[in-house]
Amino acid sequence: MKTKKVELNEITKVIDPVASMPKNDWCLVTANDGERVNGLTAGWGAFGHVCNKPTATIYIRPQRFTKSLLDRSDYFTMTFFDFDKYKDALMYMGTHTGATEPEKGKNAGLTPCFIDGDKPTYEEGRFVIVCRKFFCQQMAEESFTDSSIVDRSFPGKDFSYIYMGEIVAAYEVIR
Ligand SMILES: Cc1cc2nc3c(=O)[nH]c(=O)nc-3n(C[C@H](O)[C@H](O)[C@H](O)COP(=O)(O)O)c2cc1C
Repeated sequence: MKTKKVELNEITKVIDPVASMPKNDWCLVTANDGERVNGLTAGWGAFGHVCNKPTATIYIRPQRFTKSLLDRSDYFTMTFFDFDKYKDALMYMGTHTGATEPEKGKNAGLTPCFIDGDKPTYEEGRFVIVCRKFFCQQMAEESFTDSSIVDRSFPGKDFSYIYMGEIVAAYEVIR
């Protein structure tokens, strides 16, 4: 995989999670626990500055198989794609589980690979962010100051876990 480093302060010039992630720029959140690699499609995410670190935040529901790998790994990646070309693959990754499909990435038509040693990503990605996990906490019902959000976003009360990761590197994939 041929890549070009992106300066951390340039990330939001390439990806704007506020404007684009919910619309059409879903990413794959992928983790490697040393035994398995698995990723899921994520539409919720944020970039910012937290605890004096450039930070990516993801929101992962408890039932996701990827969560079990995230919990056993110090790192996760966020891989962004050319949406029009890979929409079907992203939909596949967002509707199938690695719990029963060990080759989920390949089945989605993607080519799993590694960057920076053992950080998992996909050959077809166009932009990869490598994060070192430093915070994890589950959202709690009583913490919502607008309870209508609970009804709308968590009717099953499966509150997401908030994972914050220090962005340690970002890469643009060169074709
Ligand atoms: C467009 C889209 C966005 C999604 N966003 C999230 C998300 O932000 N967090 C989450 O936990 N699940 C999200 N999902 C659901 C997971 O991607 C889905 O449940 C996936 O099959 C889980 O895979 P896993 O069990 O292999 O981890 C999204 C699904 C789609 C299609």
